[in-house]
Amino acid sequence: PLQTQGTTTARFSSTAVEGATSQVERNENFAKLAGGYLFPEIGRRRNAYVQEHPEMADRIISLGIGDTTQPIPPHILSGLVEGAKKLGTKEGYSGYGAEQGQALLREKIAKVLYNDLIDASEVFVSDGAKCDIMRIQQMFGPKVISAVQDPSYPVYVDTSVMMGQTGNQDTSTMQYDNIVYMRCSPENGFFPDYASMPRADVVYLCSPNNPTGAAATKEQLESMVKLCRERGSILVFDAAYAPFIRSPGVPKSIFEIEGAKDVAIEVNSFSKYAGFTGVRLGWTVVPSGLKFKDGSLVRDDFNRVMTTAFNGASNIVQSGGLACLDEEGQKEISTLIDYYLENAKLLRQTFEEIGFPVHGGTDAPYVFVELPESVGGSWNAFNMILEKAQVVTIPGAGFGPGGEGFLRLSAFAPKDSVIEACKRLKEAFQ
Ligand code: MLT
Repeated sequence: PLQTQGTTTARFSSTAVEGATSQVERNENFAKLAGGYLFPEIGRRRNAYVQEHPEMADRIISLGIGDTTQPIPPHILSGLVEGAKKLGTKEGYSGYGAEQGQALLREKIAKVLYNDLIDASEVFVSDGAKCDIMRIQQMFGPKVISAVQDPSYPVYVDTSVMMGQTGNQDTSTMQYDNIVYMRCSPENGFFPDYASMPRADVVYLCSPNNPTGAAATKEQLESMVKLCRERGSILVFDAAYAPFIRSPGVPKSIFEIEGAKDVAIEVNSFSKYAGFTGVRLGWTVVPSGLKFKDGSLVRDDFNRVMTTAFNGASNIVQSGGLACLDEEGQKEISTLIDYYLENAKLLRQTFEEIGFPVHGGTDAPYVFVELPESVGGSWNAFNMILEKAQVVTIPGAGFGPGGEGFLRLSAFAPKDSVIEACKRLKEAFQ
């Protein structure tokens, strides 16, 4: 044992007992972050509730984080299995792949999902949209001004803060200095009025939207692209929920809009398409003609980030991605999405019956409910629903100050859980 080892022990034990503090300054940007990342915070509150009420543990139903629950369908699964099996053969084995992704997968993404509106060389395959958003921020650096929808997926704001683009959070408005918050509310159809806001270098737009569930129309996207062209902004378009679009004429990609290739980057992911939240596979499209002010190509810098800080998506997983894009895989994805949209419909109906205005849930897996003032704010509603119904939701305020007064419900739970949750929600609000 260490205690018998004389001077060596003394050295070890003094370190162990007193600990050591490095002389490294904390990155001041991290000190600006208001709290933990939203979804772990929701998990923490759920766990705290279960710890206090262990008898309720089995009753908890999660309509919180948008995490898929249905098994990966057979054809897509066979792609993953084949990808793994190949690694066990001499002929099929592969090590590092291209950092930008396998050529065949890039081609298939361009063809099947974009109808060749973009070129394979503009597709960067990755481990997910969220990770790509951080990489896009690394590429832009600390000096740009970002604009976000308010409410919005928290990654855009949090990564802007981490990169040092912002000042501190103003505790009265709950907004960070130096970010342009574009209010999205029922009054403007949850689509931002960028024209009335100060110019930003980078505009983040998500459609179908997380958390509001609103899918932007062609006209809305045309106006945004036009504005970005006029103001010299780069639009980062998050299309992670595109396959949920069922309304005719609603664009699934920003590149369906004329002129978008000069101003837009699109991030996307197989997570919600095919139940790949744990598998991890996404992509980003950076058009070859998109340029910075000095004329240099955005794609070259994004390529520099990817080749330096990423070694390519897993070869097994890319094989699963190829299967997603086969005709059979596309059919399986459509069936999965129908299943989740059916859940969304049930959630919509429930809140309509309760008597609250409901948004989203038709072209998106998220239902966004307007809460009456009597509930006392979205975190109160979250707590009340957890206590009374053992249903986990997400308070709108978690997505930014503009989300206060709303509650987001995810349609990704198994159907029987959604049916049970709807019953309990009705009771809770009686
Ligand atoms: C969400 O619940 O908003 C998303 O599923 C989280 C994510 O995709 O990172």
